[in-house]
Formats: sequence, C-alpha cells, structure tokens
Amino acid sequence: MKTSSKIIVSNQAGIHENLASIVRKHLESEYRKPVADHTKRAFAAVCARLEDVPARPIILDACCGVGDSSRALAAQFPDHWVVGIDKSESRIMRERPTLFRDNLILMRADLVDFYRLAVEAGWTLARHYVLYPNPYPKSVHIKRRWHGSPVFPYMLKLGGVFEMRSNWRLYLEEFAAALEIAGHSSSLESFEADEPLTAFERKYSESAQPLYRLSADLD
Ligand SMILES: C[S@@+](CC[C@H](N)C(=O)[O-])C[C@H]1O[C@@H](n2cnc3c(N)ncnc32)[C@H](O)[C@@H]1O
Repeated sequence: MKTSSKIIVSNQAGIHENLASIVRKHLESEYRKPVADHTKRAFAAVCARLEDVPARPIILDACCGVGDSSRALAAQFPDHWVVGIDKSESRIMRERPTLFRDNLILMRADLVDFYRLAVEAGWTLARHYVLYPNPYPKSVHIKRRWHGSPVFPYMLKLGGVFEMRSNWRLYLEEFAAALEIAGHSSSLESFEADEPLTAFERKYSESAQPLYRLSADLD
C-alpha cells in the first residue's frame, strides 16, 4: 500500500485554543446528523455475523486501512472478535477475501456513523484501537480530528482498553486533554515499533520517525 511517511508540519504550536470549548459542547449535546444507509447496512452485516456464533468480547480496530493490524490482533486474541472498519473502499475492499474469516470481520463503513450505531445497539468493547488516524495538522481542521468531532463522546461510551498511535505527538496530547475533560485519565509514551502493526507504522519506522501511543481504560 502507498502511504506517506512525511513528518507532520502544522501551524499549531500547542494544544488548540478551542479544544476545551469544542469538546465540552460535544459532550453536552447529542449528535443528530442522519446515519447513512450504507453504514446501517454494514453495521447490520457485522451484527449478523457476531450473532452467528457464541458471544465473544469485541475488539474494534477503527481506521484499519488494509487491515494488517486487524489480522494481527485476530491472531493475538483468538477468543475475541476483531472488527476492522475503514471508510476507504480502495483500502478495505482490497482485502475482500478475508471478510468474515475466523474471528475477523473487515467492513467498509464510516465510523462517524458506525460509532453511533454501536452505542445505540449497546456494544461494549474489550479493546479499541485507532492506529495512525489522519492528522489534519492545519489548525483550522481541528474538528476533523477524532477528539474535535461530535462523535468523540460516542467513541468513549463504547468503553474498553483504548489505544491510539500517531507520529504526531500533539495529536495524542490533544486527545489526552479531551479525555481529561471527559473524565478519563490516560498515559502517553514514545515507543519503537520492532514489529510494525500497520502499513503506516512500517513507513514511519523505516523513515526513523518517532512514534507515540496513548492508552486509556475507558471502563
Ligand atoms: C493514515 S490511515 C491509517 C490506516 C491504518 N490504521 C495504518 O496505520 O496503516 C487513516 C485511515 O483512516 C480511515 N478513516 C478516516 N476517517 C474515517 C472514518 N470516518 N471512518 C472510517 N475510516 C476512516 C482512512 O480511510 C484511512 O484508511
């Protein structure tokens, strides 16, 4: 897969000045944007598969790209379901043969809608990964980052052990600040990816970029 290994350049020197007000507003309001039919269908297909076998804890691999991390997690946690979601057809559909195999489900869907459907359906996650989310480094695009999105409170409602990784430390610092506002503590550290879990992680490691991960227990 072609991935960019560019170092992030941003016009933001620190945590966005509007972060707190944006997060508080989203925590206090309901997100009413209608859910797209294609994500309703995708969510129903995932649920049908989950109901097909005895219940297992669910691991959500959000923004899974081509699903490398989802496959690795499915191997690491054979007694869990791993649900890998990405909105990009070109990425996830390349992996069509692995849809619905063993304990792995890869599905194309928009997480902005999928998260809300999962909350509505009463999902609780064992683990939740967001590995290398699109950074949207321009200050003006803060609301496109997950912690600036109206869906942020719904991500938290799903619970579980949460892990987010990025090559842009500020993204994770902002996410940690948003978690704090929502009443969750987290830890942030740099790490070396000896065995890269995703295509982006491999690229960044090969270009010797520092990598960071944030962890939080959302239960
Ligand atoms: C930088 S890539 C990282 C992919 C993979 N996690 C990796 O590390 O190789 C970010 C991914 O997030 C996906 N994405 C962004 N917004 C999304 C959304 N609303 N719903 C689902 N996927 C989304 C993109 O399609 C893209 O594949």
